[in-house]
Amino acid sequence: MKNGTKEEYLILDKHEQDYINNTADRILKFLGGLNSTLEGYKITRLEHSLQTATRAFNDKADEEMVVAALLHDIGDELAPLNHSEYAASVLKPYVSEKTHWIIEKHGEFQMYYYAHHLGKNQNQRDKYREHKYYNDALHFCEKWDQASFDPNYKSMTLGDFAPMIKRIFAKKPYSLL
Ligand SMILES: [Fe+2]
Repeated sequence: MKNGTKEEYLILDKHEQDYINNTADRILKFLGGLNSTLEGYKITRLEHSLQTATRAFNDKADEEMVVAALLHDIGDELAPLNHSEYAASVLKPYVSEKTHWIIEKHGEFQMYYYAHHLGKNQNQRDKYREHKYYNDALHFCEKWDQASFDPNYKSMTLGDFAPMIKRIFAKKPYSLL
């Protein structure tokens, strides 16, 4: 890299910008491929994502929250031990601090529903009790995430969410504002 010229880096930068601009398409493709059944669950990863986002949409959450709900588990495959942080990182340049925080912490908040059955601490979320977004993360998990494993729920389609994903990922990244 040391020997690269300005002209060469300008060409690379152009390619990189084009690639960044196509992030929404890659995310849609990735989500569309989450067709395998969640291990032990009755629905696929895609259906869980669609259900979570549909519930957020029906509750009139703002668009970035709906998109975040759709993406909240995209880290499951490659980052099973810290999937929340993975999804939060993908979203970070395009969403508010609040939405980012909710997604980043949702894994710990979700523990409330199952961890005690496994001999772990279900109240791990309590360490955030004083945090300004504590109730928002609680709401995300209670109303949308933990409720979205219903095989009979009528979710919106990935196509319905595509324009929303494209709009959110077309935003000027927060870091450049
Ligand atoms: Fe989830």
